[in-house]
Amino acid sequence: MPDNNSDALVRFENVQKSYDGEILVVKDLNLNIAKGEFLTMLGPSGSGKTTCLMMLAGFEPATHGEIYLDDVPINRVPPHKRGIGMVFQSYALFPHMTIGENLAFPLEVRKMGKSERDEKVKRALDMVQLGAFADRRPAQLSGGQQQRVAVARSLVFDPDVVLMDEPLGALDKNLREQMQYEIKHIHERLGVTVLYVTHDQSEALTMSNRVAVFDAGIIQQLAPPDVLYEQPTNAFVADFIGDNNCLVGTVTEESENSCVVQTPDGSNIKANKINIAGKGQKSTLSIRPERVIVNPDPGQVPNIFKAKALELIYLGDHIRTRMEVCGNDQFYVKIPNSTHHADLNQGDEVTIGWNEYDCRALDN
Ligand SMILES: Nc1ncnc2c1ncn2[C@@H]1O[C@H](COP(=O)(O)OP(=O)(O)O)[C@@H](O)[C@H]1O
Ligand SMILES: [Mg+2]
Repeated sequence: MPDNNSDALVRFENVQKSYDGEILVVKDLNLNIAKGEFLTMLGPSGSGKTTCLMMLAGFEPATHGEIYLDDVPINRVPPHKRGIGMVFQSYALFPHMTIGENLAFPLEVRKMGKSERDEKVKRALDMVQLGAFADRRPAQLSGGQQQRVAVARSLVFDPDVVLMDEPLGALDKNLREQMQYEIKHIHERLGVTVLYVTHDQSEALTMSNRVAVFDAGIIQQLAPPDVLYEQPTNAFVADFIGDNNCLVGTVTEESENSCVVQTPDGSNIKANKINIAGKGQKSTLSIRPERVIVNPDPGQVPNIFKAKALELIYLGDHIRTRMEVCGNDQFYVKIPNSTHHADLNQGDEVTIGWNEYDCRALDN
């Protein structure tokens, strides 16, 4: 989606946050979220994601900068007047109220009449397939059902934006994956704008239109899922998104689009020049395990090296093989379990290779 101001529903402009007056946990956030977009903030614990949500929701003031909702600055607008729904990891349902009463609560706060309220509650519960549960209490529902109630409650008052902070973190893997699709489909049906937070990269890739990868209070890269995986612009993103091999070396040659990086063992690797400081400087090469070819034909690819298979792990659809290559013994190769796959054994010496365009020279 375009990142211009005109169709941005949410805008962070030069937003900074410090809790102690010294350390900036959000450094200089500039981010536009388009109307109807599903945007995920993805990053390790402590990188500042929740802080961003809290500032947008109005529970934490920004130390510097301004946040706009529909072009209106909201720094001084109290939380309940921002039209924002929220879902947290802990479901935060009121235990003494029924499910129906939990959902009606945000509508009562907004002084909505009973008949309209009942209708909206019913619609929201049907949306998460819990229409029959209106009279139960939260304790009578499973964790997954409670979280679906929390999702319904965040949407019941037709908010412009819904913020979800690791909402599936407490659920087991199968349920989590099922809920990812459910939330994604609700988003597609309603067209509501969602700002989602997770530290789980596969969750971010599954659900989002765009993902903002966070580290240390800074957006490292903002892009759709496929672009993040195929075209990471720095070593942090390459390593954080998907399986990745890193080879560290020094740039010895540089042309317009490509470069040669020499690893400490003397191997010269031709790479796609993405983000390097220049000749004589360090660079980290990123190579995806599934892009490595075992036993390439001579001349098939520009990078061919001797390698040794150190460890093979059978994973059904592929064999994950740890190899030693270019002086690195933590180099992983995914060998697809197809009819004609390379039949390797531990300790075997082979040649492996990869294309220049599958090898990205990034910052150190
Ligand atoms: N209320 C708070 N008071 C002081 N420090 C906080 C508070 N909330 C978060 N922090 C600190 O701010 C940093 C970012 O935290 P947070 O936004 O929760 O990150 P994330 O959600 O990415 O895990 C962390 O170092 C955290 O310890
Ligand atoms: Mg958090």
